[in-house]
Amino acid sequence: MTVPGPPPHRWLGRRRNAHEYAVDPVGYTARLHHEYGPVAGLVHGDRKQVFAFGPEHNRTVLTRGDTFHTVLEYAIPQGIRDARRGIGLLNMNGPEHRKARRVATPSFKPRAALAHGEQIARLAAEEVDSWTPGEPFDLTDRMRRLTLRIACLCFFGVDIADRADHIGRMVQDMLALRYFASSIKYFPFDLPGTPYRRLLTVIRRLDGALADIIDARRDGSGAATDLLQSLMDARDEDGHGFDDDQLVGQLTTLLVAGHETSSNTLAWTLLLLSQHPAELDKLLASVPERAARTSTALAFPTGLDHVLKETLRLLPPGPNTSRIAVAPTAIGGYEIPAWCQVVTSKFATHRDPEVFPDPLRFLPARWETARPSLYEYLPYGAGPHACIGAAFADLEMKTVLATVLGRFRIDPVPGAVVSRQVGLMMAPKGPVPVIARPRTDPAPPFTAVTGDLHDMVDLDGETRWRLGWQ
Ligand code: HEM
Repeated sequence: MTVPGPPPHRWLGRRRNAHEYAVDPVGYTARLHHEYGPVAGLVHGDRKQVFAFGPEHNRTVLTRGDTFHTVLEYAIPQGIRDARRGIGLLNMNGPEHRKARRVATPSFKPRAALAHGEQIARLAAEEVDSWTPGEPFDLTDRMRRLTLRIACLCFFGVDIADRADHIGRMVQDMLALRYFASSIKYFPFDLPGTPYRRLLTVIRRLDGALADIIDARRDGSGAATDLLQSLMDARDEDGHGFDDDQLVGQLTTLLVAGHETSSNTLAWTLLLLSQHPAELDKLLASVPERAARTSTALAFPTGLDHVLKETLRLLPPGPNTSRIAVAPTAIGGYEIPAWCQVVTSKFATHRDPEVFPDPLRFLPARWETARPSLYEYLPYGAGPHACIGAAFADLEMKTVLATVLGRFRIDPVPGAVVSRQVGLMMAPKGPVPVIARPRTDPAPPFTAVTGDLHDMVDLDGETRWRLGWQ
């Protein structure tokens, strides 16, 4: 059977479709799903990139880790691969991944995450205390800086607090250059001024800085209680642990996977609340004033949990998850050749009206009764690569939200445009100027945002086409 899909572009062929997908993966995927059903090619009959929608295909693609490999290692040019000291969980597959995951898992158990509670609460309070009421600031930027600081301090400990900003900048530079951007993929030459050279340089510097931290720790007391120490001490049942280069690889992945995901979710949550004043008021009533210098997830109001779950449903930071089939296989009756990239979509899965009635509306209360299966609702993924940091992320995001809402209500400035930007993650695009007002002040008049957030979420109650759904 030939996989259905749109025709290749009339003049530029498949390349043009691939470009459209790269520019707007969420929009392209949603249209494929709407127009071609559960299995579709990037173009009609495509054997290089196939999209598989729905819980059943999520299960197949995400759990059969020996057939479907994560894409990172395949997407990175050889020179960049050689330049790194080590690789992290998301770059590994098969037995190598299983072994590393066994060593790392205990460091991420909910109880281990709770150990970071006090530190997260302190940094969140410092951040919120630095805001001047009534003065606009860029919400995305502030949340990104905060989660990076949290990651650096919880992962490496207070002893390197002064270096956290420096490391944060390198991680940002590395993300901005993107391993598989066309400028790097199609021009992988180590020449002055090229993005490839810049990426090599930043990778070497970041690896060097992380290796220095590990060296210093090996020479030091070993009494620290941060994630690095926990990973350094970790052993599997055969007594194997991580060597220093492996630790560098794991830490780099943790820094990348562990801050923009949370910061984007925090920014989306505050923006969605600003567009649903009744939901915001409900939540404010349950979050005590100047709350959240707490370290136990159990102490957070249920409403906070529901609001976060609903944001992660509508705007998951990783809207699509791709794998490479390393052997010929089949999905939904269609043959999948080896080396075909198979894309699954949380964004589409989370909008199934059978599972989530009124799927385009932001309705946190649905979580009082909703009990979707693991493959119907999977913001943290599923299968062998499911998020190892989910407990940490949950604690972090609830602490930050409770800290913000314990003092302020956040509103967009009049005329704010909120749209998506999808690179490695789905983030609010560009600066999103907002104003923090003391929550005890009278509520200001409602400020509606414009932008393509309206194509992803029904903010106005109008029935119209929104990325494949009415
Ligand atoms: C809102 C917050 C977060 C979301 C939605 C999220 C989501 C995800 C998803 C969907 C995956 C699976 C990717 C795939 O299957 O290809 C993943 C993997 C991963 N996440 Fe998270 N994540 C979040 C926060 C974090 C944090 C805070 C950390 C670190 C403390 C973290 C560390 C990781 C790591 C290391 C992996 C790779 C696991 C493996 O390959 O075995 N994540 N995450």
